[in-house]
Amino acid sequence: MNNLALRSLALAIAAAGSWSALPAFADGELVVYCNVQEEWCRPMVNAFEKASGIKVLMTRKSSGETYAQIKAEAANPRGDIWWGGTGDPHLQAAEEGLTEVYKSPKLAELQPWAVHIAETAKYRMVGIYSGALGYSYNTADLAKRKLGEPKCWADLIKPEFKGEVQVANPNSSGTSYTMLATLVQIMGEEKAFDYMKALHKNVNQYTKSGAAPARAVATGESLIGITFQHDAVTQVVGGAPVKVVSPCEGTGYEIGGMSIIKGAKNLENAKKWYDWALTPEAQGIAVGAKAYQVPSNKSAPTPPQAPKLGEIKLINYDFAKYGSSAERTRLLARWDKEVGALPK
Ligand code: G6P
Repeated sequence: MNNLALRSLALAIAAAGSWSALPAFADGELVVYCNVQEEWCRPMVNAFEKASGIKVLMTRKSSGETYAQIKAEAANPRGDIWWGGTGDPHLQAAEEGLTEVYKSPKLAELQPWAVHIAETAKYRMVGIYSGALGYSYNTADLAKRKLGEPKCWADLIKPEFKGEVQVANPNSSGTSYTMLATLVQIMGEEKAFDYMKALHKNVNQYTKSGAAPARAVATGESLIGITFQHDAVTQVVGGAPVKVVSPCEGTGYEIGGMSIIKGAKNLENAKKWYDWALTPEAQGIAVGAKAYQVPSNKSAPTPPQAPKLGEIKLINYDFAKYGSSAERTRLLARWDKEVGALPK
């Protein structure tokens, strides 16, 4: 019996007042942990429910938080699919066996970087989008205060930007962990930690979610916000006085991930979401949600507003190293001890 037929039967039985006679409804549901912006999570869920007849229960969290939740729930998994968020915590979960091996028939339609990260994870994750890290500033505020335009990572630690920079906490946020790993790869670890300690003086708030600083820049709550460039583009498209910066020293990037949670109670439905989410149609939903990442399906439309990765000075981000369990755990502990613990 298919889902629709089962639903009709359920309704008929409910109408007759005998719910207790009904078998468990597990095969009609899917629990999604969504890590992109809520504005994109919602239309994805709605479109999938419409296409499949499967009821989706979705919660939006940040990437580091979702990794920690899946680990905490490992003995009794509550989620089925982890969709979106930066690749590093997906890779860490893969290495720790928290996610399932799955080779989607759609892999053949994907960009090489999306397949390469799947290979790195031994097929426990796949790439769904990509985007470069950077920062943005409020142009109206900068002009009013007659400050010079920041162009490089080095500019963000200048004394004139004291209390003017917002960035997320790298424990909860994959965006912020991408910054940490990027700085280590550009400067070397010791210099990167010196830099982050200096940056701490200029940080007004470590937010939980990675994209929040872009919104704070748009409203003028913070002069500068470190985020993925596409999150700042969303604010520009919304009409805010915001300029997006690709730091002069070069920058890192993310490969957004998708994984099936090990022990998923709705495994078949999770695979259905997985295959569907890799189609050009599903990936095309991003544009209407003002999400400007580069999609992983070769035939999915890349929004014209998406930052052009080929024109950005990108580092050769080492996903295998910075997504490894030992390295991510070690770097976050060092950040907590040497940066997060500093007085404000
Ligand atoms: C935003 C970006 C995504 C990114 C995600 C990470 O939603 O648009 O490209 O993957 O942030 O979220 P987090 O809160 O973990 O930094």
